Formats: sequence, C-alpha cells, structure tokens
Amino acid sequence: MKRASASATATEAAGQAFADVLAPGDVVLLSGPLGAGKTTFVRGLARGLGVVERATSPTFTMVRQHRCHNARGIETLHHADLYRVGSIDEVLDLALGELVEEQSVAVIEWGEIAAPIFGVDVLRVTIEVISDEARRIGVSGALAADRAAAIARWLT
Ligand SMILES: Nc1ncnc2c1ncn2[C@@H]1O[C@H](COP(=O)(O)OP(=O)(O)OP(=O)(O)O)[C@@H](O)[C@H]1O
Ligand SMILES: [Mg+2]
Repeated sequence: MKRASASATATEAAGQAFADVLAPGDVVLLSGPLGAGKTTFVRGLARGLGVVERATSPTFTMVRQHRCHNARGIETLHHADLYRVGSIDEVLDLALGELVEEQSVAVIEWGEIAAPIFGVDVLRVTIEVISDEARRIGVSGALAADRAAAIARWLT
C-alpha cells in the first residue's frame, strides 16, 4: 500500500487526501528520514481536515493544536514532532497519551519512539526517499486493515 509522490506539491496533495482515511480518535505515526516530507504531508493533511487557523503556541513546544472544520467529526489536529526528544523519559513527560481524544486526530513526526504509548491501534505513514524529489508514501499498522477501503481510494 504505497503511493508515489514526485514533488513536494504531490506529497502535500497526498496528505490532504489522507484526511479521508481518518476518523476521530486516530493516531498517525509518521516516519521517514530528515527532509523526507513529513511536515509537508501534515500541511496537506491540515488542509484536508479544514484547518483554517494556526493555534498559537510557544515555539519550543513539540506539540501544536489546530482547530479543524470538517464533516468527519474531527475538531482538533494535534501535530507533534519528536525529533528533538532524547529519551523515553522525555517522551513520557510529554503525556502524548492525552492527545488521543474522541474528537481529535494526533499526527506525530518521528513517532516510532512513542509507539509503545499508543499500542498497536495506530496508522503508520512512512515516507521513503527515492531520489531528489521522488518519494514513496506507505501506510501500515493495525488500524490500516480497518481502513482498507479508504486507503485503496487514497492510493489511486
Ligand atoms: N516529493 C517530495 N515530497 C516532499 N518534500 C519534497 C519532495 N521533493 C522535494 N521535497 C523537499 O523536501 C523537503 C521536505 O521538507 P519537510 O520539512 O516536509 O520534511 P520532514 O520530513 O518534515 O523533515 P524533518 O525530518 O526535518 O522534520 C522540502 O524542502 C521539500 O521542498
Ligand atoms: Mg518535519
């Protein structure tokens, strides 16, 4: 289950379309090397979820909240980036489990380190760098099986 991207714009479009895969309460762990396009994907996803404003938050925070406007029942997008997290203790201090809410979606860049907090019920999005601009965006995880039909639509 992989979707090809040939540009940053295409990755953003893939993120935007991925909103159709999501349901309230979902956790998405995003992985891929530095500069793969994780934040680009989230920017598109935010648009797909109808984010119109940027929530104000201190620049040093690792989690940002965005209010969403969509018909999917997703009211908040939590966007975390754990790149600078040094240890599992720091991850625990972030209380990421609180990001799992009935009316929210949590998307976590460099999320593998936090995987034990969320258990198996997550979507994993992995961005592979193929060349300068080419990427492959894969979806896996236990939740992906439940969303197979929506993911199949997202792939085409
Ligand atoms: N197909 C592509 N998809 C996404 N980004 C691309 C692509 N081709 C080139 N780029 C460039 O790669 C960079 C991706 O940056 P972005 O911040 O989204 O990556 P990231 O994975 O979030 O990085 P970090 O690990 O630092 O958080 C941008 O400069 C973008 O223009
Ligand atoms: Mg990033």
